[in-house]
Amino acid sequence: MADLNQTPERIIAPVPRITIQAFCETQDTAAVIEAAAGDRRMQKTHVKVQMGGGAAAVEAYRHAPTPNVIVIETQGAKSRPIECLDALADVCDPGTKVIVIGHVNDVLLYRQFIQRGVSEYLMAPIEPIALIQAVSDLFSSPGAKPIGRTIAVVGAKGGVGASTLAHNLAWTIAREQDTATVIADLDIAFGTASLNFNQDPPQGIAEAVFSPERLDANLLDRLLSKCSDNLTLLAAPATLDRTIDLSEQALDTVIDLLRSAVPCIVLDVPHVWTAWSKRLLVSADEILIVSAPELASLRNTKNMLSVLQQTRPNDHRARVVLNGVGMAKRPEISAAEFAKALDTPITASLPFDANLFGTAANNGQMIAEVQAGAKATDIFSTIAATLIGRPETRRARPNLLEPLLARLQRRKAS
Ligand SMILES: Nc1ncnc2c1ncn2[C@@H]1O[C@H](COP(=O)(O)OP(=O)(O)O)[C@@H](O)[C@H]1O
Ligand SMILES: [Mg+2]
Repeated sequence: MADLNQTPERIIAPVPRITIQAFCETQDTAAVIEAAAGDRRMQKTHVKVQMGGGAAAVEAYRHAPTPNVIVIETQGAKSRPIECLDALADVCDPGTKVIVIGHVNDVLLYRQFIQRGVSEYLMAPIEPIALIQAVSDLFSSPGAKPIGRTIAVVGAKGGVGASTLAHNLAWTIAREQDTATVIADLDIAFGTASLNFNQDPPQGIAEAVFSPERLDANLLDRLLSKCSDNLTLLAAPATLDRTIDLSEQALDTVIDLLRSAVPCIVLDVPHVWTAWSKRLLVSADEILIVSAPELASLRNTKNMLSVLQQTRPNDHRARVVLNGVGMAKRPEISAAEFAKALDTPITASLPFDANLFGTAANNGQMIAEVQAGAKATDIFSTIAATLIGRPETRRARPNLLEPLLARLQRRKAS
C-alpha cells in the first residue's frame, strides 16, 4: 500500500555554474563541504576546500580574485573572525558572497557578521543539505518562481508498465493536485505517450535533444502539446529515421527549461542504462522504480536502488511500485518479500488487469477515463498525493459547488 509517511521536501534549486572556496578550521566541516560538493544539485558548481579558516582566506585573496562564494569556518573569538572579515572586505570583488560557519550561538557576533555583509551564518555541525540550501538560496533571485519538481519513472526491466504509470501519474497530478504538469516521453524511438494520450503532435523531444543550441523557452513552448487542463506532453517522435546516441548532457537544457517553466515534470525514462539516463535519474527530485513481482525485476531494482543511494546520499530513497500483481497462474514474489529483500517499503502494488489496461492503451485513454472506480485509479491518486503533498485534495469528484467556491475565493482575493 502507498506509504504516506514520506512527505515531499522543499525543492532545492540546482546551484548554478559558480565557484565556491571554503576555508575550514575543522576536518568535520571540511568533510561536510566535500560531501555537499558531490551532491546532484551542485553538479555544475566548482568547489574547493582548504584549511586555515578566515586567516587563510585573507592570505589567499591578497593577490588573487575572489570567487562567487567564500565559506569561512570560525570556531570562536580566538580565530578573530571579525578582523578577518574586515580584511577580506578590502579585497573582495563586488558580488562575492560570504557564508560563515560558526560554532557559537552568539547573537552579538551574528549581528556583527550581518553588518559586515555576511550572507548567511550556519551553526556547526551542519548537514551537507543545509549548505546546499543556503548557497542555492543565494543564487535564486527573490520572488523567483519556485523551481519545478522532476519525477523520474523508470522500469526495473522492459515492459513492466513504467510508461503506463508515468502517464497516468502525470494526468492524475494535473487533475487532482491542481498542478501544471508536463509529461516528457524520453523513449525517443519507441515512446508511447502520444498513443496513450491520443495525440499526434508534429514535433517534440527530438527537436529539443538534437538541436540544443536552438532551444529556448519559446521553442520549447512550440514543442509541447496540450493533453488536458494543466497537462502538456513533450512527445517522442517514435520514428526510426535516426539512431538515438545521446551525450551525457543531452537533456540538461530541456530539463532546466522545463523546471523553470512548470511546477511538475514527469519523466518517462526508458529502460536503458546509459550516461544520460543515469544522469537523469541521479538528478531527479523523485524516482519511481516500476517493478514486476518476479526475480529479474527484484534483482534489477536492488541494483538500481543501491547505485542511486550511493549517488544521492542527501536524498531519500527511490520509491518502488509493483505492477501487474495477481496475474492468474503466474508465480509471484509477494510485496512483503519484495520489501524485505530490498530493505525498503513498497510504495504501491498495482493489480494486473489485462482488460482495463488493454482497453486504455488501445483507446488512447487514461485508466481513470476507462474506469473511474478502479483500484488502479485510486492508487494513482494516492501516489500523486504522496509526491505532490496534498493528500487532502485526493480524488476530486465532480462537485457542482467547486467552480462557485473558486470564483468566490478569487473575488475575495482581488
Ligand atoms: N497493471 C497492468 N495490468 C495489465 N496490463 C498492464 C498493466 N500495466 C501495464 N500494462 C500493459 O503492459 C504493456 C507495457 O506497458 P508500458 O507502460 O509500455 O511498459 P514499459 O514502459 O515499462 O516498457 C502495455 O500494453 C500496458 O497497457
Ligand atoms: Mg516505457
